[in-house]
Amino acid sequence: MSAGLLLFTGKGGVGKTTLAAATAARLAESGRKALVVSTDPAHSLGDAFGVRLGAAPTEVDPDGLTGLHAAQVDPRALVDDAWTELRGHLRTVLAGAGVDELDAEELTALPGVEELLALGEVRRLAANGPWEVVVVDCGPTAETLRLLALPEAFAGYLERLFPTHRRVVRGLLAGAAGSGAVDRWDATADALSRLAERLDALRGMLTSDDTAVRLVLTPERVVAAETRRTVAALALQGVRVSGLVANRLVPAVAADESGAAASWLRTRRAEQDAVLADLADLGGVRAVEHRAAEPVGVEALLEVARGLYGDDDPVGEPGGSGALTSVERDGDEYVLRLALAVGESDLDLARVGDELAVTLDGRRKLVPLPPLLKRCVVTGAELDDGGLAVRFRPDPDLWMR
Ligand SMILES: Nc1ncnc2c1ncn2[C@@H]1O[C@H](COP(=O)(O)OP(=O)(O)O)[C@@H](O)[C@H]1O
Ligand SMILES: [Mg+2]
Repeated sequence: MSAGLLLFTGKGGVGKTTLAAATAARLAESGRKALVVSTDPAHSLGDAFGVRLGAAPTEVDPDGLTGLHAAQVDPRALVDDAWTELRGHLRTVLAGAGVDELDAEELTALPGVEELLALGEVRRLAANGPWEVVVVDCGPTAETLRLLALPEAFAGYLERLFPTHRRVVRGLLAGAAGSGAVDRWDATADALSRLAERLDALRGMLTSDDTAVRLVLTPERVVAAETRRTVAALALQGVRVSGLVANRLVPAVAADESGAAASWLRTRRAEQDAVLADLADLGGVRAVEHRAAEPVGVEALLEVARGLYGDDDPVGEPGGSGALTSVERDGDEYVLRLALAVGESDLDLARVGDELAVTLDGRRKLVPLPPLLKRCVVTGAELDDGGLAVRFRPDPDLWMR
């Protein structure tokens, strides 16, 4: 059985760790085997529970809330020998192929390896335990986005550096550098294949129906626009955002309270409520009040969870973003819909062979076209509330083939 995965992300300090910990505690309280893992190098999961944590799952509160386990994965500690070795391989091969040493150094500085390994570790923990739900306390949004896009970016990088047609490279090496180089290339190519498999597995995990991202934010105007961009960018990667959590809502004050403090709170709360209303179209927004005391320890966290979820199940939020694409017929044209709440993002579209390259705020995603649309030409694109609609018309030339 594969565990459901719930990833908490958001800007630094918004409350990711607190809410991930509270959610896991709540799950354990409801009798589910829950594991909460932190992959943020700035570990504070242990602080939230008020216990010491290591890389292996440990029970947080064996005498009280049983079934709750937590771990802190240190991405930096994961950069293992295998990677160092692979880099070595790559450098040798590149040198054999006549690539300058400095260039080889740069080409093999594999981007984002640490984050990748942390994700792999989450995957391993999720697969090798009795967990029904694994809650992940991720790093800050930008970092996490990069991390989520990584498997694809990485695959593209490898593809550029080492074309699928390894035989070509092999042939080149045999001519230029002799049989020793060919053997080394074979070893490297094998290592790369294994890496590609790992990447595919990670992408599978992140885009699986059992995985959801919960975005934590503070209800402030400047944050709202960024939240939209983040939701769109995640959808573009095929990652489901299920629910936003607005943390640190100031308490509502009774209408008959007067004085400067009451007035301040009332104004602040009205502003925050307006931001929440503005974000409502992105799906279920839950809110957590700013508490007077920092919620530290299982009891305090459970109380936060009660405010957050009420009687609802923390897993399976309403209003998740659905399938990224759908195709409808419109007269003699087809409309490909990309469910992206693009907001104020920078959007660029290009047809690249049988794929549509969608670039959102500098992040590119190749969306494979359904077979039907491969034989069409793009006639236009529009943005509306439902996202992006790209129009296609059958191309008689292509259609006949
Ligand atoms: N709703 C809240 N009320 C009061 N304090 C909070 C609340 N949420 C978080 N905190 C406190 O704010 C600080 C930052 O929260 P944390 O969960 O560590 O944020 P992040 O993981 O996003 O960096 C912590 O000291 C935490 O106890
Ligand atoms: Mg944190």
